[in-house]
Amino acid sequence: MKTIDVCLSPELMHLYEVRNRTVVAVDILRATSCMVTALAHGAESITPFAQMEECLNMKTKGYLTSGERDGKKVDGFDKGNSPFEYMGDQVRGLKIAFTTTNGTQAIEKSKGAKEVIIGSFLNLSSVVKYLLLGENNVLIVCAGWKGRVNLEDTLFAGAVVEKLKDYLGPDCDAPLAARHLYNLAKDNMAGFLNDSSHVKRLNRLNIYRDFEFCLSVDQYKILPRLENGVLVA
Ligand code: MLT
Repeated sequence: MKTIDVCLSPELMHLYEVRNRTVVAVDILRATSCMVTALAHGAESITPFAQMEECLNMKTKGYLTSGERDGKKVDGFDKGNSPFEYMGDQVRGLKIAFTTTNGTQAIEKSKGAKEVIIGSFLNLSSVVKYLLLGENNVLIVCAGWKGRVNLEDTLFAGAVVEKLKDYLGPDCDAPLAARHLYNLAKDNMAGFLNDSSHVKRLNRLNIYRDFEFCLSVDQYKILPRLENGVLVA
């Protein structure tokens, strides 16, 4: 039986051997939700950067630049980190250079994996189907917040573990914990997350609608994957 594990924070990545695994990088609020949205709306590619300066430099190469720190758009960047900035024709055909507080850091730390795909509630079924049919053991890497665990990424991990429970065995206790949490939360995820740290942060920035959208399941049937450091659909 294939196995599934959950890395609850990128700071714990040194505990996991990823060379032979499929890694699912996840930052529900909001980086991977934005990436899925942008690629679903026709962006040509997304190049993730851990460092802001490197990302901003891509402007000179014709890239649209997206930069967020602590939830706020960074001066000099074309776009911030709201999925609503990546819909319709706003990004169609464009190459995007993207840097965020946690999401792109998690992708950076996943780069040694056999393959890296991008997960969010927006493309949950596509992720589950791919993992079910794939040959590799799985590690879900939660972006968390600055090295700390967060609830929303853990819930997503739990949703994946729950849906694959008859096909992939848990490698340790983190997938079991995530699954139990998801089952507690699934009937009212927004309510369950109401007191969580990043939801409070987003509420202070007045972006509740981003939060609601990022929790909506299966808006898109796409599976972004990392190819030579670049995300494509
Ligand atoms: C991140 O990468 O830390 C988040 O996406 C932050 C945000 O909500 O903008």
